Amino acid sequence: MKVIVGSDHAGFNFKKMILSHLAKNGHQVLDAGPEDTTSCDYPHYAFKVARAVAGGECDRGVLICGTGLGMSYAANRVKGIRAALCMNEYQARLSRTHNDANILVLGERVIGPDLALSILEIWLEAEFESGRHQRRIELLDQVDG
Ligand code: RB5
Repeated sequence: MKVIVGSDHAGFNFKKMILSHLAKNGHQVLDAGPEDTTSCDYPHYAFKVARAVAGGECDRGVLICGTGLGMSYAANRVKGIRAALCMNEYQARLSRTHNDANILVLGERVIGPDLALSILEIWLEAEFESGRHQRRIELLDQVDG
């Protein structure tokens, strides 16, 4: 899978860990930045990752900030993006099987690294079930403001 990963300063350590985990497991990875832990603004990185996924340049995206909240607000503003902030494996699985999430969002200040990788693995493996869920996700892109 081709996966693009971005963070802000508060998610930088998870970004490094996730990029190396994905590469080790045979995925093609893209680093959307930042390059270090200098304080930065999460929307820039969220939009970069979201546009790469929405435009079909990458299959999936992963975004990390301190809480995961800012990244999910920002990414979900890009049409076609379903960014899921997951704090446990159940949310990770359902965000794929029911919501067809195309971006995983994590909060580095909220969960530990082992749980983060476990969430990531489940999220990458789980398949969208379609059916009634397809109709529901299509409604997401029909809102007019
Ligand atoms: C940075 O301090 C923090 O606000 C940011 O990483 C994120 O949690 C915002 O939602």
